[in-house]
Amino acid sequence: MLNKQILNINDIIRLYGDKKIFLITGKNTFDFLKKKNINSILDKLKNLTIFFKRKDVPDYNELKVIVKECKKKDPHIIIGLGGGTVIDYAKLTRFFLYEKKIKFDIRKSNKSKNFKKLICIPTTCGSGAESTTFSVLYKNNKKFSLNNKFMIPDFYCLIPNYIKNIKKRIATPPALDAFSQTIESIMSINSTKKSLNFSFKSLKILSKYLFKYIKKRDLSSTRKMVLAANYAGKAINISKTTGPHALSYIFTSKYKIPHGRAVFISLKLFLKINYNRMNEKKFLKKKFKKIFSILNIRSFVEFEKIMEKLSRSYHIDIKKIRKDIKKNPDLFVKSVNLERLKNNPIKIDNHTLKEIVNSI
Ligand SMILES: [Fe+2]
Repeated sequence: MLNKQILNINDIIRLYGDKKIFLITGKNTFDFLKKKNINSILDKLKNLTIFFKRKDVPDYNELKVIVKECKKKDPHIIIGLGGGTVIDYAKLTRFFLYEKKIKFDIRKSNKSKNFKKLICIPTTCGSGAESTTFSVLYKNNKKFSLNNKFMIPDFYCLIPNYIKNIKKRIATPPALDAFSQTIESIMSINSTKKSLNFSFKSLKILSKYLFKYIKKRDLSSTRKMVLAANYAGKAINISKTTGPHALSYIFTSKYKIPHGRAVFISLKLFLKINYNRMNEKKFLKKKFKKIFSILNIRSFVEFEKIMEKLSRSYHIDIKKIRKDIKKNPDLFVKSVNLERLKNNPIKIDNHTLKEIVNSI
């Protein structure tokens, strides 16, 4: 199921200017966009309620508050304007608006519902959450992935003009997420011709513009990156992610490492296993060959160098994590999302997983 792109933000005004709108956003994002004069456009929306989220990751208790507020306003349209967390909140709010309670397993929930319209406007180039049917939700530091075909937004809108020159510390982790999601989607056992078409498109753009974007975030690289992230989102919507995502959630919930950087902690390690054992799986060799050709490299060592350079673009304190791993590696092994892990092309048993954790 694919949603439709609204070409620009003025179309939203033209189509929905006089409708009741509930907008979810973040304070920092909104202040940044205000400097770019986005509020002069939003002022044209006659019946607008803005909700500012506070949490860094989608949080169960905060979602309950948002749903309650949204219910009170009974809007025609819900808009998510922000990064991955805001987009997930918007998707979840629309989904749970008329549910009795917030549930974590919603796969089978497919009653035809009179849903509100949902428009997502990502302000970071990364998660591609505007094109997926799933959302992340944390409760008591535990991460849940909620998936339902009705979660996909009706429309999305990409706004490179507004989000160029975004701060490096904000822009880098989502850009890393786009890269990891692209590669993981190619690797995934669920990849299809269609998903590979999206992920190769994304990788082609990333190979040319990712480093430029991290360094400059000018209009041309931002334009390309919003597209790459969107393709990556469409790709994982079909294939789902694999090992690096499966292991990443503990780094975000326990150490507050931004999601995109958290997946990079083990991306290289999972790929090395896949590469070393690529002869065991049909098509895996072909996939690596294609990745190398797009990235214009000839060996896995060169591939590792690219990933190391990307990791260095966002510094994290890994020493504390390593210390904790030494003390209790099983805590990390047990935290892994098994549903994501099984999408890895090479089967990762507990022993291998422990090896990965120990080599972080
Ligand atoms: Fe991700």
